[in-house]
Amino acid sequence: MENKNMNMNRRKFLGYLGTGTAALAAASAGLGTLAPVASAAHTADHLREFDNLKLSPQAKPHAFFKPIMPTMEDELVLPDGFSYDVLAAYGDVINEKGDTFGFNCDFTVFFPIDGSNERGLLWVNLEYINDDYMKEQYMPSFMQNTPIDTKRRYHQGGAVIEVFKDSKGTWKMDTSSKYARRINGFTEFDIVGPAKGSSLVGGATKAIGTWANCSGGMTLWNTLLSCEENFETQARRSNLPSEHYGWVIEVDPFDENDEKFKPRKHTALGRFNHENTCMGITKSGRFAVYMGDDKQNACVYKYISSGKFDPAKGKANSKLLEDGTLYVANLGAGRWVKLDAAEVAKRVHASNFSVPSVLKMRDQTVQSLREMFPANATQAHVMVNTHEAAIILGGTPTDRPEDLEINPFDNSIFIAHTNNAVHGNIHGHITRIFEKEDDFESMEFMFEIFAAGGRQSGFSAPDNLTFDSNANLWVVTDMSESNIGKGVYEWHGNNGLFVLPTHGQNEGEAFQFASGPQGCELTGPWFTADEKALFLAVQHPTTNWPRRKGDVDPLPAVVAIKGFKGNNLDKGNKSNGNKGK
Ligand code: FEO
Ligand code: CA
Ligand code: CA
Repeated sequence: MENKNMNMNRRKFLGYLGTGTAALAAASAGLGTLAPVASAAHTADHLREFDNLKLSPQAKPHAFFKPIMPTMEDELVLPDGFSYDVLAAYGDVINEKGDTFGFNCDFTVFFPIDGSNERGLLWVNLEYINDDYMKEQYMPSFMQNTPIDTKRRYHQGGAVIEVFKDSKGTWKMDTSSKYARRINGFTEFDIVGPAKGSSLVGGATKAIGTWANCSGGMTLWNTLLSCEENFETQARRSNLPSEHYGWVIEVDPFDENDEKFKPRKHTALGRFNHENTCMGITKSGRFAVYMGDDKQNACVYKYISSGKFDPAKGKANSKLLEDGTLYVANLGAGRWVKLDAAEVAKRVHASNFSVPSVLKMRDQTVQSLREMFPANATQAHVMVNTHEAAIILGGTPTDRPEDLEINPFDNSIFIAHTNNAVHGNIHGHITRIFEKEDDFESMEFMFEIFAAGGRQSGFSAPDNLTFDSNANLWVVTDMSESNIGKGVYEWHGNNGLFVLPTHGQNEGEAFQFASGPQGCELTGPWFTADEKALFLAVQHPTTNWPRRKGDVDPLPAVVAIKGFKGNNLDKGNKSNGNKGK
């Protein structure tokens, strides 16, 4: 493993990067001096008002933690002064009915109970399954001796668990919770939006089950959005229609029977390998939802609701996710392109239509695309075949867009482009989009590469993102298990969690906060509102973490990390962690 010199080198290198890649190229070729940063044409700086934010002296992340070095240690390694509690691991019983926590936890969201920062519901995505772990001991008693595909469907989807901090400061799961339950491959969903009941989904208005739930988002009305990513395999194995999967689902964690707020699949947000969602209010009072399609050569999307968000309407605002416009990003033009069915049909039926190379790689032909989008194609055609429609209309194929998050301080949008080895983007990068006039409803934008993965920056394969109240971007990494610790990834150690300031002298520099156990990726970072606890999921560890008493396998688990000093946003922390139930 490399030592301190690496840090010095990467800081120096980032100093150059801050002046722009053209200047960097000039410098490395010995062609002249570096231009001062201030001369850069259109950086984020003109948008920022950090001086007015009265940032605390602790604003820099290394002021509140001492960064760790990369490591291959088989542990969730944290900076001095920080520790973690395991909240729930694969197979743990989560409620009185005996439901168990499923496999490969991912996205987490904390929903406070009565405004508390110390008791709430934690939604956890359960992304996919590994048949080696389909053991009876991890199934609830009422599901034992079922066929393997039943087990697979049970272990995916999501879990609502109730968590609290006890009087000794330990975070725990409360299995007596009336809310704790599983959403899984057997849950019934309403299909809503343009594809509902259409021939594209076999006329269905309902779908059975959710799986491949990767990341997600929280709505402005306190419900949960969860994204079906690599849905194809499970649909095939269960002989269920593929068109019923690949959507964004919505669930109300507080609706304990899933009856008042029926779980739903939102077809207006398109069907693709959904990674996550992030939502922001536009200047006109509508909202935008930004989304990425996590596959190679795939696009970044934004949905804008037709109607305006009304806080007084609460969860009825969910209707706004059924009626809106979906756009795809054309990065070369800096424009959002409307995914319009008539325009797609016009293009594919034109006599001079030729199949874009990205779609050729996916075995599409002129004929197959004309069948996919008939001359009278409707929005349902576009919503079910979103990637194809997007590429045909000029959407830019990018390097696996994973999480997108809005910087709450300047409305810029950060995208984790995890990697794309096919054309040499081995370590990925983080893209930052600036909407024109900082309005999520704008049709024009600028963008820049905020940070590039690699040895110089210290991270590779950026995946899930979250912000803290100092506008620091928290980034987990997802190098594939087969690459960890080897070859051009050796310097990285295990997958980790990094903090990148988005302003100030350390802008874009990565400080490592955590390193995961062997084989795992870290997923789903989510802070409590007071930022005294960080929830994090450890997915697919391979040796024997978390090593609790009685554990016999490595277990995916979600943890609460403690040791943060917290922020000043905590307006009356109604601690009810010890109320007992
Ligand atoms: Fe499931 Fe895109 O990671
Ligand atoms: Ca992911
Ligand atoms: Ca990933």
